[in-house]
Amino acid sequence: MTGASAVAVKEIEVRDLRLAYGGKEVIHGISFEVYRNEILAVIGPAQSGKTSMLRCLNRTIEFTSSASVTGTVRVGGEDVRKTGDIFALRRKIGMVAPLPVGLPLTIYDNVAFAPRCSGLQRKADLDPIVEKSLRQAALWDEVKDRLGSLGTALSGGQQQRLTIARALSHQPEILCLDEFSIAIDPVTTMRIEDVLKELQEEITIILVTNLTQQARRLSDRTMFLLEGEIVELDSSEVVFSGDARSEKTRDYVRGVFG
Ligand SMILES: Nc1ncnc2c1ncn2[C@@H]1O[C@H](COP(=O)(O)OP(=O)(O)OP(=O)(O)O)[C@@H](O)[C@H]1O
Ligand SMILES: [Mg+2]
Repeated sequence: MTGASAVAVKEIEVRDLRLAYGGKEVIHGISFEVYRNEILAVIGPAQSGKTSMLRCLNRTIEFTSSASVTGTVRVGGEDVRKTGDIFALRRKIGMVAPLPVGLPLTIYDNVAFAPRCSGLQRKADLDPIVEKSLRQAALWDEVKDRLGSLGTALSGGQQQRLTIARALSHQPEILCLDEFSIAIDPVTTMRIEDVLKELQEEITIILVTNLTQQARRLSDRTMFLLEGEIVELDSSEVVFSGDARSEKTRDYVRGVFG
C-alpha cells in the first residue's frame, strides 16, 4: 500500500464469487479483498470478466436478467445480498464506465442529478456538492463559468471527467473505474491519473484497465484476471517487476499475449 498505511482495513471481501449468464459460467469462484484507501488495478484480456466482476460488487449485475451469482460479497463488512438498502449500496460504490455517459443536461444538472434523486433540492445544499465533485475531478476551473451549458458539448476528455464528477457526487467510499481512458488523449489521461492519486487519500479505488503501464503507475496491488479466474493478486511492484508467481502473468505484463 502507498505510504505508511498502518493497519489495512478490508473495505471489500469477496468469497467464492461465481457468475453465470444464462447458465454459462464466466466467473469461476474467485476470492479477494480490497483494502481501504488502496488503488487495486484489475488487468486482463478482453472477456476475462473484469466488467462483470465490478457489476457484482454493487449488484448492478441484477439489471441483466440472465445473470446468476453465488458466493459472498461484503462491503464495509455487510453482505451486499442481505442489504436492506440497495440504493445506499450503489451510492457507496461509484462506477465510471469506459465511455462518458453524460445526461442531456447542463453541466450543473449532470452533477446535481444523483444528489437530487436522494432528496436534496435546495441550491444552497447542491452548490457545494457540485463544486466539490467538479474540483475532485479536475474539471472545475474549466467549467466554472459555464455550468449552465450542456454537458454533452464538452470535449471527450472533459465529458469523462464530468462522468467522474457525477460518480463522486454520491460521495462514494469506493470508486470503480472501468477502462476510463479508452476514449481520451494521453494528456487528459495523465490529469485524471493525478486526480485518482489524490482521491486515494479519501476513498478506495478499483481500476480496471487494459493499459498495463497505467496499472503500474497508479496501483498499489494488481489483480490479473484471466477467463474468470484470478491468476495473480500481488503488489504491483512484484507483478510488474517480472517477479510474478505465474508465467501467464509475466507473459501478459511483458505484452507477450492478450
Ligand atoms: N450481459 C451479458 N450477457 C451474456 N454474457 C455476457 C454479458 N456480459 C458479459 N458477458 C460475457 O461474460 C464474459 C465476461 O465479459 P466481461 O464483459 O465481464 O469481460 P471484460 O473482462 O470486462 O472484457 P472487456 O475487456 O472486453 O471489457 C464474456 O464471455 C462475455 O461475453
Ligand atoms: Mg469490460
